[in-house]
Amino acid sequence: MVKNRIDELIQIINQASYEYYVLDNPTMTDQEYDDYYKELLSLEEKYPEFKREDSPTNRVGGEVIDKFEKVTHEKPMLSFDDIFNEEEVIAFDERIRKTIKNPTYTVEPKMDGLSGSLIYKNGVLVRAATRGDGVTGEDITVNVKTIKSVPLRLTKNIDIEVRGEIYMSKSSFEKANIEREKNGEPKFANPRNAAAGSIRQLDSKIAAKRNLDFMAYFLPNPEDYGIETQSESLEFLKKLGFVTNYKLNTVAHNVKEIIQDIHSLAQQRKDLPFAIDGVVLKVNRLEDEALLGFTSRVPRWGIAYKFPAEEVLTTLKEIKFTVGRTGKITPNAIFAPVHVDGSLVSKATLHNEDYCILKDVRIGDVISIRKAGDVIPEVVEVKLERRKEDSIPFEMISICPMCATPLIKKDANHYCPNKECPARHIEGLIHFVSRNAMNVDGFGDRIIEDFYNMGYLKTVVDFYSLKNYQEELMMLEGFGTKSIQNLLDSIENSKKNSLERLLFGLGIRYVGKKTAQILAEYYKTMDAFINTTYEELVAIDNIGEMIAESIIEYINNKENIQLIEQLKKLGLCMDYEGKQIIENDAFQGKTFVLTGTLEHMTRDEASAEIEVRGGKVTGSVTSKTDIVLVGADPGSKYDKAKTLGITIWNEQEFLQKL
Ligand code: IVH
Repeated sequence: MVKNRIDELIQIINQASYEYYVLDNPTMTDQEYDDYYKELLSLEEKYPEFKREDSPTNRVGGEVIDKFEKVTHEKPMLSFDDIFNEEEVIAFDERIRKTIKNPTYTVEPKMDGLSGSLIYKNGVLVRAATRGDGVTGEDITVNVKTIKSVPLRLTKNIDIEVRGEIYMSKSSFEKANIEREKNGEPKFANPRNAAAGSIRQLDSKIAAKRNLDFMAYFLPNPEDYGIETQSESLEFLKKLGFVTNYKLNTVAHNVKEIIQDIHSLAQQRKDLPFAIDGVVLKVNRLEDEALLGFTSRVPRWGIAYKFPAEEVLTTLKEIKFTVGRTGKITPNAIFAPVHVDGSLVSKATLHNEDYCILKDVRIGDVISIRKAGDVIPEVVEVKLERRKEDSIPFEMISICPMCATPLIKKDANHYCPNKECPARHIEGLIHFVSRNAMNVDGFGDRIIEDFYNMGYLKTVVDFYSLKNYQEELMMLEGFGTKSIQNLLDSIENSKKNSLERLLFGLGIRYVGKKTAQILAEYYKTMDAFINTTYEELVAIDNIGEMIAESIIEYINNKENIQLIEQLKKLGLCMDYEGKQIIENDAFQGKTFVLTGTLEHMTRDEASAEIEVRGGKVTGSVTSKTDIVLVGADPGSKYDKAKTLGITIWNEQEFLQKL
């Protein structure tokens, strides 16, 4: 009977997956697996009435949702306090020993992904959710069902909640980034961001393609199953069909063993197939857990030891100078590609001449690289002992690398003063369509550079005539009918943007996102703005002399006014549409502090993004701070946030939350 065969095939395939994923011990060739899978697929197509909810064929995704529903966790999903060195490990153990006699601990790799809660009813996966703020998360069931290492049916028909980490393996991460580069999309900074971005896809087919994984590590209600220790929880999870870190998890009986186990995991880290960012310690006996309880925020019975930022050695191949939108020249270190904290990097900014001299970087030097604030690569230092004798000290260039105009120096920076410099034009075009300006989807920086060099784009006005070159564009590598259409639609849509986006997009010197917002709110229309005076400008709150002078210079230039007139004729909105309020629970009612340099926006722009979503930005970290946003080279606010256990976001997390 067909139904029996379907049941049998599901059983065979699930058993094979269990052996492959959970036991790491494949028993079937890929060919055999594919044959069973195809047979099941064709039977299900012919007899949809027999298709089962827990069929492995459901993993290809297909369900598209329009938003993620909110779900409340039965028990809050907490995380542990972070610690950063061995002294803190010793202090943790001493603290525990004040309450518990002879504690033992599980020592587990700290998976670098995002935590997820899976709920099974009668052995079948019925709901998966993100942690969210710990109390309320988002329903990501359709996407989690595509994860091959998540059992859709357990080996026991029980009701249970299981928590663990949704993550992307290093190999899937590399693949995803190769794909993104090919499509002109920005690359993921690390596997954690890649996993977080993928699990929040509304189209589960996309999530399925990203090849995520799940590692189970926690049962919120172990007592329901007669379990007495965390290590028994982990064994129970494995028996139920979950992937656990059974080869790496250990039990330590004293602090010496904990530290040995931490060293051992740190050593294995770079060879593991997934990214880990530390080690999680949990008191093993669950009755001890109960005695220790919680502080107001976190459990006392566990802690997360975070590895220090990984530093990797490489060789400096070249110092490449780039020209920004304002003509600013930036030296960039180009080095032999290396993996740092899970991603492949090959360049880092060297900011300006002073920085290069301070670091004394020379081509051919062995340098160490790390990721600042988890995301942006930076040169830590030169290994002077490995310097070659014939190395040549850094020398700043004196002419523009694009147009050969002699550079001028202002404060610490060098600028190309040529307003017609192609590099400045290209950067200006990139800025115009960027997310905070006109927000056109589908343009990578390279495409804009290519279009500029091919003559399709000269000024921002030309974006709106690209539709006349549809056929030519289609001949270009990487473009198809659909991607061209999406791009043109997005350009057309940008005409409706409110005035502040256009004001920001024009690239007027010193007019950042926040200033553009202030100007749009004040003038309401483009006409009023271009007819303003210096006196009127400086009378506006937060508009200083420097900004006012720059605006006057801009509007006194006939070419700029002509450009605005052309944009008006093309049908771009020239009016302020009122203050936007964007609904976003991650920001609403929360107090933020910013520290360090952000790569994609200024701090003012970041503050504006927070405020438009109902958040508040303050200057110093206190117990009332909810979130600290950390950029490169953060100040003492970062340390204070860590000490107080305040949630820390890096720039990528911030962008994702936006
Ligand atoms: S146990 C009460 N075990 O790291 C906390 N968490 O603070 C229960 N993580 O947010 C979590 N690997 O997302 C636990 N083996 C592991 C983990 C782990 C990674 C994450 C988790 C949590 C944070 C710990």
